[in-house]
Amino acid sequence: RTLSSLGSLAGKRVLVRCDLNVPLKDGVITDDGRIRASLPTLNALLDQGARVVVMSHLGRPDGAPEAKYSLEPAAIRLGELLGKPVAFATDTVGESATATVSTLADGQIAVLENLRFNPGETSKDEAERGAFAAQLAELGDVLVSDGFGVVHRKQASVYDLAKLVPSAAGLLIETELDVLDRLTENPERPYTVVLGGSKVSDKLGVISHLLPRVDTILVGGGMVFTFLAAQGYKVGASLLEVDQLDTVRGYISDAEARGVKIILPTDIVMASKFGADAEHVVAPADALEDTAFGATGMGLDIGPETGKAFAEQIKASKTVFWNGPAGVFEIPAFAEGTRAIAQALTEVDGLSVVGGGDSAAAVRILGFADDQFGHISTGGGASLEFLEGKRLPGLEVLGW
Ligand code: 3PG
Repeated sequence: RTLSSLGSLAGKRVLVRCDLNVPLKDGVITDDGRIRASLPTLNALLDQGARVVVMSHLGRPDGAPEAKYSLEPAAIRLGELLGKPVAFATDTVGESATATVSTLADGQIAVLENLRFNPGETSKDEAERGAFAAQLAELGDVLVSDGFGVVHRKQASVYDLAKLVPSAAGLLIETELDVLDRLTENPERPYTVVLGGSKVSDKLGVISHLLPRVDTILVGGGMVFTFLAAQGYKVGASLLEVDQLDTVRGYISDAEARGVKIILPTDIVMASKFGADAEHVVAPADALEDTAFGATGMGLDIGPETGKAFAEQIKASKTVFWNGPAGVFEIPAFAEGTRAIAQALTEVDGLSVVGGGDSAAAVRILGFADDQFGHISTGGGASLEFLEGKRLPGLEVLGW
């Protein structure tokens, strides 16, 4: 169900589930991409004269208020981007929320405090979630679900609430699904997927689903050391998921059998420790312990030779999906691999998609502009689960 299925929303109280889960450093938003991505739907509703009530989570608080997880900075930023006042309720379903919503006039907007300050939002207990969803339902006449980044979660505002009031997907979800559909249905070849980030176990599902569909998988980031170790290489004190070694070996042989190339780094930036002041040196991937740091050295980025090879492969592709930074991009000495990948994606003659909160933040923090890429997805886990072919509860409940 799309926005238009809800009919005219003028004068109606419209609950909008957004994903305003933005990275914050000392209370300052470091990447407002998810707030900007929510603007088309919010503007469309405000232009119709709806009374807009924005709901979101931020971080993973433990079901109780915690100042560092307040949504207020996001509400302030939203007001700046919309160019109009945004009221902020200091609770989610309490007195402040009720009062704030009741004073909204047509074409006005409010943001509720972090949904996850209430245990009912993320509860595994259906009755507890349902009770919280019922309280949220009191605050609106309809629900527009537009938090693409959170549609893989079976949570009160994403799932249960959609069953209690008339509901439909917003414009961001429509856009995200259009692009992700292009990655799953007849993508133009060659199709290259670039995987990074720290946890192999998080990406296993997507690797097994992608193997039959892609031509090449480039592996970087912390997860690469499990791949290198699976090849028999020593990796020093780098991230390693020993319990995944056999699975990774299975992928490597499955890829060979299918004619899919899994390309691993040939060089790595090895550091004396994890930190901005670490000493570092480039080492061949098969000799990571042969540096001055020996077995205590840790790999924090792909090396320059690998960055170049990955970039060539990416630029020769017609479809590229990238999830997960190649190194610790927050530290300049370990950002070059991620930069090389991002730069190459901007030069793809075809569809380039950056997926995931970390990769999206990385490209913006490294100074790239959103319009240099085909699409920057607001979903990390959500886009991966979509590509894995999983049914996502927040979409299923809307009839998608
Ligand atoms: C994300 O950052 O991927 C989404 O906002 C979902 O957050 P979560 O992983 O804490 O549910």
